[in-house]
Amino acid sequence: MGKVSNLKTIINKDYEKKINDLVGKMTLEEKIGQLTQFLPSIFGAFGMTKDEIIAKLVEGEISYEEFQAMERNYHRDEIKEGLLGSMGGVTGAELSNELQKIAVEESRLGIPLLFGLDVVHGYRTIFPIPLAEACSWDMELIEKTAEIAAKEASASGLHWTYAPMVDITRDPRWGRIAEGAGEDTYLGSIIAAARVRGFQGEDVSQPERILACAKHFAAYGGAVGGRDYNTVDMSLQTLHDVFLPPFEAAAKAGVGTFMSAFNDLNGVPCTVNKYLLTDVLREQYGFTGFVVSDANSIAEVEVHGYAENRKEASKKALLAGLEMDMSQGTYKEDLPEQFKNGTISVEVLDEAVRRILSVKFNLGLFDNPYRTNKVIEEQSLLAPEHIDIAREMAKRSIVLLKNENNILPLKKNLKKIAVIGPLADNKKELLGTWAITGNEEDVVTILSGITAAVENDTEIAYSKGCEVIGEEGMDFNLAVEMASDSDVIIAVVGENADMSGEASSRMDLNLPGRQEELLKALHQTGKPVIVVLINGRPLAIPWVADNVSAIVEAWQLGIQTGIAVADVLFGDYNPSGKLVATFPYSVGQVPIYYNHPRTGRPAGKIKFTSKYIDGPHQPLYPFGFGLSYTTFNYDNLVVNSPEVTKDSLTTISVDVTNTGKRAGEEVVQLYISDLVASRVRPVKELKGFKKVNLQPGERQTVTIDLDIHSLGFYNEAMEYVVEPGLFKVCVGPNSQEGLEGELRVLEK
Ligand code: GLC
Repeated sequence: MGKVSNLKTIINKDYEKKINDLVGKMTLEEKIGQLTQFLPSIFGAFGMTKDEIIAKLVEGEISYEEFQAMERNYHRDEIKEGLLGSMGGVTGAELSNELQKIAVEESRLGIPLLFGLDVVHGYRTIFPIPLAEACSWDMELIEKTAEIAAKEASASGLHWTYAPMVDITRDPRWGRIAEGAGEDTYLGSIIAAARVRGFQGEDVSQPERILACAKHFAAYGGAVGGRDYNTVDMSLQTLHDVFLPPFEAAAKAGVGTFMSAFNDLNGVPCTVNKYLLTDVLREQYGFTGFVVSDANSIAEVEVHGYAENRKEASKKALLAGLEMDMSQGTYKEDLPEQFKNGTISVEVLDEAVRRILSVKFNLGLFDNPYRTNKVIEEQSLLAPEHIDIAREMAKRSIVLLKNENNILPLKKNLKKIAVIGPLADNKKELLGTWAITGNEEDVVTILSGITAAVENDTEIAYSKGCEVIGEEGMDFNLAVEMASDSDVIIAVVGENADMSGEASSRMDLNLPGRQEELLKALHQTGKPVIVVLINGRPLAIPWVADNVSAIVEAWQLGIQTGIAVADVLFGDYNPSGKLVATFPYSVGQVPIYYNHPRTGRPAGKIKFTSKYIDGPHQPLYPFGFGLSYTTFNYDNLVVNSPEVTKDSLTTISVDVTNTGKRAGEEVVQLYISDLVASRVRPVKELKGFKKVNLQPGERQTVTIDLDIHSLGFYNEAMEYVVEPGLFKVCVGPNSQEGLEGELRVLEK
């Protein structure tokens, strides 16, 4: 990979002198202060230490509400002494300005604070979880929702979001699959860049923009067993071919910060991994911002058994290229003595400080430390145009997985609709993971959305039927009774928001609790059952797939979930989403992903091939899959240059016709297979796509650009190579079907 161009949104040569002058004046403690981020601490609350409070929280002796109500210490003294560079967890224009005023106007050098928080899929206007947004394949809209998130976060006093999460994963047991863009490297890379652009804009110093953070660097999604925080072990080739490109894309898009991952990579914890933090990130990608640890990940290097003690962990982290310690004060406690006794050169510290100051200068904090106020904040949060975009993104994130006999869309004047299920009249769970600044009262439930969409004389009968997990409140009989004389049953089932996201790996991928039993009871009525899935990961639901009439994958779509689901159910919007992560038939197939390497014995009819004896080897729903209320026909594939050179661009065209009776959008996908190479290559890889909108009967020639350089891979010697030879081209509606052609890459 070549060096990247200078990242204009982060480094600006005008500031170099100011930065060096500042560093020259700073004491050792002030320098280490810039590397230190604290959260509003609860230390001392209830007259207990932090650890005692955490223990009582875990044991349930202190409720979460009591915990939230605790008086926080905002570290005003340390800020005044210039001993803090950043604060996490501070929201609200007035509080942010008050603390910033202490830093800028009362501390010795007046260095502004950086306020950071997880603003992952919206601040107060909560959008669909990132995995759902990715299913829209709509880069413009993905960028737009990030832009709105930045606008609201900035209005609330924040400067920095710990997003986008760009981890590729091939294991839906891993709860954090909800936070990313799925299993594909090409798609994950362009979504990473779109989100960085959305948060930072062309000039991150503009008041409505915030610093982004590419996380978790790196390969966190490769945790063995899909178990969060678990070890990651892979070849350097797989690391660079599959897991790193979205990070490189974020770096090339000008992302201002990176966050190191909790996991080790091939035995070296990422937080102290010089290969990642310096050799790859700075020397290969040309990154010039700063790297922040994940929460407590420096101290955990000792738990990994990679450092004798915390002091050694801190030293290894700083020397590896980790500039800021998130929220634990590890650097603040463990580094001073090591500089004083010469264990670590102060030059290393100065370089880290320079990187952090350069980001603050480029963010415009020195020129404009107070970027917002209460009026701006109130005008920005939940602005009507933000809610409109939330509805647009929510409906475009929905994936239609099944629609037997075209039972969908429903008429709005049915006599009776039974709406059943634990997530039908629920607000909180629809926000999804990492919606910490959202408010469940802003959510439109699916029951409300359906009720608002139908005509007045349509009867809507609602029953919860059961909980998502557990037995309490179960009442199949009432649900079945309501359903028995309805025209159609809409069953809203799935996962709670806290069943995905961080520390939420699952051993199974079924519908939790008694939900599948509820569906079977409803199915027994003989009435058509339409399942609306609310979930943060792919689920293995073969019985549902075989038996219900329709399946609408609605993920966790944020505040406009109910409206968007009704838009799709009643045909006000023709669903266009396509899966970005494979749905397994069984958890026993995991890891299962479409772009898997070839084997010498691909699954076939004879026994001695790569398959299972107790179930299918094919997934339930493949990557790129999604149905529409209309149909599309593909023909006339044209490989516009059948022979190309390694560094050329070419195009592939195909004619797509809307052969149905209503307008619809189609994601036309281009897959490439390298038939013979110096390493075994994937059976196919996505290398381009185009989302087109076609009227009934309309035929369009869709042309997709193909950069031949993107067909390369890392060879045994770890060189990125594009090798000559024959490549198969496949263009179609998903990763399993399409028209095929050939392309030859010439020696030169
Ligand atoms: C968490 C997560 C990280 C998040 C950080 C701050 O542990 O791993 O994604 O940004 O802490 O909340």
